[in-house]
Amino acid sequence: MQQILAEVEKQIAKAGNEARRIFHGRGHCFEGLEHLVIDWFPPFAVARLYRDVEPAWLDELSDLLKTVPDIQGLVIQQRGRGKDAEQNVVWGDVPEQMEVRELGLAYHVKPQRNQNSGLFLDMREGRKWVKEQAKEKRVLNLFSYTCAFSVAAIDGGADHVVNVDMSKGSINIGRDNHRLNGIKGDRVTFLAYDLFKSWKKVRQLGPYDLVVIDPPSFQPGSFIAEKDYRKVIRRLNELTEAKSQVLACHNDPKNGTEFLKQLMLEECPDFKFVERLANPEDFPEAELEKGLKVLLYVREK
Ligand SMILES: C[S@@+](CC[C@H](N)C(=O)[O-])C[C@H]1O[C@@H](n2cnc3c(N)ncnc32)[C@H](O)[C@@H]1O
Repeated sequence: MQQILAEVEKQIAKAGNEARRIFHGRGHCFEGLEHLVIDWFPPFAVARLYRDVEPAWLDELSDLLKTVPDIQGLVIQQRGRGKDAEQNVVWGDVPEQMEVRELGLAYHVKPQRNQNSGLFLDMREGRKWVKEQAKEKRVLNLFSYTCAFSVAAIDGGADHVVNVDMSKGSINIGRDNHRLNGIKGDRVTFLAYDLFKSWKKVRQLGPYDLVVIDPPSFQPGSFIAEKDYRKVIRRLNELTEAKSQVLACHNDPKNGTEFLKQLMLEECPDFKFVERLANPEDFPEAELEKGLKVLLYVREK
């Protein structure tokens, strides 16, 4: 328990009151705590357990987090328990929906949601990179979810961003996220479509200078990486021009960087691998290949 406390206090101190992961056991850097992660939506902590633990252990965790003055409420979710896992506010007045900040920008999150609270915290360095690169660019944000990449790109001076996600609910939150940051609608397009049924529209709005691809690993009926990632990569040839940049992301521990590199090599020979972006320091990984992979490519001709 003491190493949880030490890490939580360290990460909260670094958070600067922004959203952040404050304990990442899943990266196998804290022995015996691989089943625990804790997210920070200031001033509330959301602990997620990836296997069943003794109720006494949970009580101990709760009491421990209560000793941290910054934490004013705690949600504990036990993954794999479906709906029951929601509404597990253990103490404090944790709202259903709230605003958090990241890199100075605001986003809506739902801290009590079992999965996908609205902002994937492990992508902070990706959003920072996009924000720094986006000036005067036409950006395509594939699998946009709540459009956090788009908010970052517009803040970084992008000319236009096209967001595509099949979830209407996520796209609507994406619109709200833009409003929250005072972004006017004419620089952003929202397409609530299944990508595989809307290539024509996506192509018509291009070509793009910067393409972000951040699909799920496994969403049966919608996207299965092993089968569908290739179909997306293949389209890059018609969606981009010389000097266009592509950020290809993959978060399946089963597939290392070679998975994406091989697809790019086979389907997009005009693109050159530039670098793998570093993951945020609040997501320490014992085995880098198992963590989030964010690969940058540039089209040479
Ligand atoms: C990992 S999330 C994307 C995270 C997002 N890029 C971000 O920065 O927050 C995956 C998203 O892909 C969407 N999705 C899955 N299959 C899709 C498809 N065939 N067409 C469009 N969107 C899809 C899901 O609705 C989900 O929002």
